[in-house]
Amino acid sequence: MITELDHIAIAVPDLDRAIARFMKDFGIEFSGTEDAIGQKTTTAFFPIKGTQIELVHPMNGEGAIAKYLEKKPSGGLHHLCFKTDDILADVAMLKEKGYVFLSDAPSPGAHNCQVIFIHPKSCDGVLIELSQPAH
Ligand code: CO
Repeated sequence: MITELDHIAIAVPDLDRAIARFMKDFGIEFSGTEDAIGQKTTTAFFPIKGTQIELVHPMNGEGAIAKYLEKKPSGGLHHLCFKTDDILADVAMLKEKGYVFLSDAPSPGAHNCQVIFIHPKSCDGVLIELSQPAH
């Protein structure tokens, strides 16, 4: 079951510059960076009342964020993420309803969560991530 809006992700071409913007210009608490190796993405999280902003940047110039920035060099809104308390059940339920996923099964994301993405063509052009926290 989807339980909350976990984060909204922005793809950024210059991670340090974007971190400085959110931390210093906007004054939002910065909770650190983490490499999501499975996603080939470096992430930076900014918790803000009930959710988080996630900045995403390619790790070593590879992966889905690198492809996104090739098309949109100045960056942009990349995805939103719902937290789920049972990712496998939600994937099965949504597949049953005809939703298409970008991978067959969840894989490790940032913070040791299990994550999977729903294809934007299933969701009015929005990339949606489902994430189940490690326990
Ligand atoms: Co995310």
